[in-house]
Amino acid sequence: MMLDHVATALREALVRVEAASSTAELRAAETELLGKRGPFAQFKAQLGALASPADKRDGGRALNEATQRVSAALAARRADLAAAERAIQLEAERLDLTEVRIAPRRGHAHIVTQAWERLEDVFIGLGFQVAEGPEVETDWYNFEALNTPPNHPARSEHDTFYLDYGTPGSTLLRTHTSPVQIRVMQTLTPPIYMVMPGRVFRNETADATHLAVFHQIEGLVVDRGITLAHLAGTIEAFTKAFFGDGFTSRLRPSYFPFTEPSGEFDIRTPRGDWLEIGGCGMVHPNVIRAGGLDPEEWSGFAFGFGIDRMAKERHGVGDVREMYSNDLRFLEQF
Ligand code: PHE
Repeated sequence: MMLDHVATALREALVRVEAASSTAELRAAETELLGKRGPFAQFKAQLGALASPADKRDGGRALNEATQRVSAALAARRADLAAAERAIQLEAERLDLTEVRIAPRRGHAHIVTQAWERLEDVFIGLGFQVAEGPEVETDWYNFEALNTPPNHPARSEHDTFYLDYGTPGSTLLRTHTSPVQIRVMQTLTPPIYMVMPGRVFRNETADATHLAVFHQIEGLVVDRGITLAHLAGTIEAFTKAFFGDGFTSRLRPSYFPFTEPSGEFDIRTPRGDWLEIGGCGMVHPNVIRAGGLDPEEWSGFAFGFGIDRMAKERHGVGDVREMYSNDLRFLEQF
């Protein structure tokens, strides 16, 4: 009799466990089924009232087996429901980070680098090549090979930074890009059509138009039969290519030890203002010789001007120091 009841209660209990659709429902089912008032607890209480020891034993065994099966079913169902609930919770709490669009801040080349690269582009367009030389130079390359011997008055204009290296006065931070002229002539055989951009140094107090560290671009042409007309024509072609058709250039007589004759070149804006740009001239025979070439065979012209200055004029910057202040509010404008 009792065994039938236990078997029925077990079947119903298993159905109940399977039917639980949440862990909360399952907990309720567990208390109901296996708690003190559950069917199996009641059967257990009735066991004592059974007359035969064999019935007691069989009933006890059946009850144990039934409660174990219910416990196992509860555990299995709990694991399933917990996994399902966890999946739902994870899905609900998922943060889609791909939706948070923080646009990356993209940098750009510095205003002086832009001018440097544009100058290179324009000269490459005119048929020049690009070379660079060292920033630490010897006195010989920076001055002597450029026809500026010791005690030459032109040296005093350069406010040179000397390095504490070798014989005093022998090693310095180049004061202009002109020493690269010598290095190029020593390395290449003409025809030479070269521009040489780079950083230069002068021991000057910075002000709105001067910096102690700035940039120049040097030009050097060495070929047969080069004349001042080639120099003037090149400066004019460069002016139009870099600034635009409305601009023109002029040469004014000047003096540099390494060129003869020497000039300064200015550029006229469409509004009629003149901008002083740089120095130029026909390469001095002594300089051609220092470069290892024969001045009877080769002649050339050279020019040099400030890159920072070009950036300043092109963008109407009032004070060159602003370009190196590392202030993003300034730099982001260009
Ligand atoms: N090196 C000169 C300077 O720094 C410029 C220059 C270059 C002049 C080439 C003539 C020829 O002022």
